[in-house]
Amino acid sequence: NQGALWGGRFASGPAAAMAALSKSTHFDWVLAPYDVRASQAHARVLKKAGLLSDTDFSTMISGLEQLAADVVNGDFVPADDDEDVHGALERGLIERVGADVGGRLRAGRSRNDQVATLFRMWLRDAVRRISVQLLDLVDALSEQAAAHPTAVMPGKTHLQAAQPVLLAHHLLAHVHPLLRDVERLRDFDKRAAVSPYGAGALAGSSLGLDPEAIAADLGFDSSSDNSIDATSSRDFAAEAAFVFAMIGVDLSRMAEEVIIWSTPEFAYVTLADEWSTGSSIMPQKKNPDVSELTRGKSGRLIGNLTGLLATLKAQPLAYNRDLQEDKEPVFDSVAQLELVLPAIVGLVSTLTFHEDRMAELAPAGFTLATDVAEWLVRQGVPFRVAHEAAGECVRVAERRNVGLDELTDEELAQIDVNLTPDVRDVLTVEGSIASRDSRGGTSGARVSEQRVRINELSAELRSW
Ligand code: ARG
Repeated sequence: NQGALWGGRFASGPAAAMAALSKSTHFDWVLAPYDVRASQAHARVLKKAGLLSDTDFSTMISGLEQLAADVVNGDFVPADDDEDVHGALERGLIERVGADVGGRLRAGRSRNDQVATLFRMWLRDAVRRISVQLLDLVDALSEQAAAHPTAVMPGKTHLQAAQPVLLAHHLLAHVHPLLRDVERLRDFDKRAAVSPYGAGALAGSSLGLDPEAIAADLGFDSSSDNSIDATSSRDFAAEAAFVFAMIGVDLSRMAEEVIIWSTPEFAYVTLADEWSTGSSIMPQKKNPDVSELTRGKSGRLIGNLTGLLATLKAQPLAYNRDLQEDKEPVFDSVAQLELVLPAIVGLVSTLTFHEDRMAELAPAGFTLATDVAEWLVRQGVPFRVAHEAAGECVRVAERRNVGLDELTDEELAQIDVNLTPDVRDVLTVEGSIASRDSRGGTSGARVSEQRVRINELSAELRSW
């Protein structure tokens, strides 16, 4: 096999089971376009170092161009006995330009520095795609918030009625973690933008090649300071896998709420038909499968992160073949997010919110009790006393099976002399929400200034 990258010291080829274990073309083929690009950059430094004649160089570059085109159109694919993408592409080059020219490309490089570089290149592109999709979701949530500027809902803690909030405030609460995830991806990219190319197997090259030139050629900020670190570390991959898992967790929190909200018991939202599924037996069913799959995928994304960390743990320096296990979990996390994100954008942007239902439930469960206590504090009552008095209001209202606003003036005065009828000003959901006007609070003015900031940040992050 022309694609075999070693063999001289072996009397026989690998056993079938050895080759099967070793093989990675079924997953590392996605690196092929990056491998060809990096090979062209490598050819340029070989020529610069005087190791490739002008004619050999142009033969090699056009051969690599042909190979890249053949990879794209499917005319060149891995053969059964190709061990990995790197070997397969060397075979492809030799098939196109002959062994004399094709066989010169590998000087001064190893699959160890190659694969570490290509993986970084692939990931840097992937995080840019994921960032755009995350920002699409940010915009979908922000548009829903803008479409419901005054809608109220019961805010919850412990999934129990807590205090009324604006729906827009709640929706935007899901935006902030997503924006931080985009920032995390951007931050990851700073560390990923260091090129291992030129590190060779682990010790660098004796051939006068220029790693900085290759790094710049391939869009990296710099080349690695240490050839051992360059070929052996995968913290960049683990960092990306963490952000992908974090995105999964953030999406799952939102997905869980959509699931709850779409139950008849809550009935806050109706899902669009095209973003729901039916049941094979129960004709009435309309299931929130986008949300459930999102919730489910988050487990898989966490698994990919922990699996990768387990692979990396306690590996001695430098390259070990264990590292071939680094790619599948990360490729999978990207593939899963690229399935989930467009669907959840579709789901969110087509949700119908039932404002009346949410408004009806907003004061239920005595969610205005804190407003009574804080109103008393504004009248000069110590909070401890105010909390007790508001609690007693709840007790009386609960016994009579009425809302706090239905307590009589006499009942209020009996609970605390300071509870004059003026307290009724804060005993409405709208009054309560409007009063929470501290920075970051749920008042309408605060929420609209928040949305402006979100839109600015989202636009800024899109320009990456
Ligand atoms: N396919 C390997 C990987 O994905 C790169 C090859 C390194 N092999 C070697 N024998 N040094 O990590």
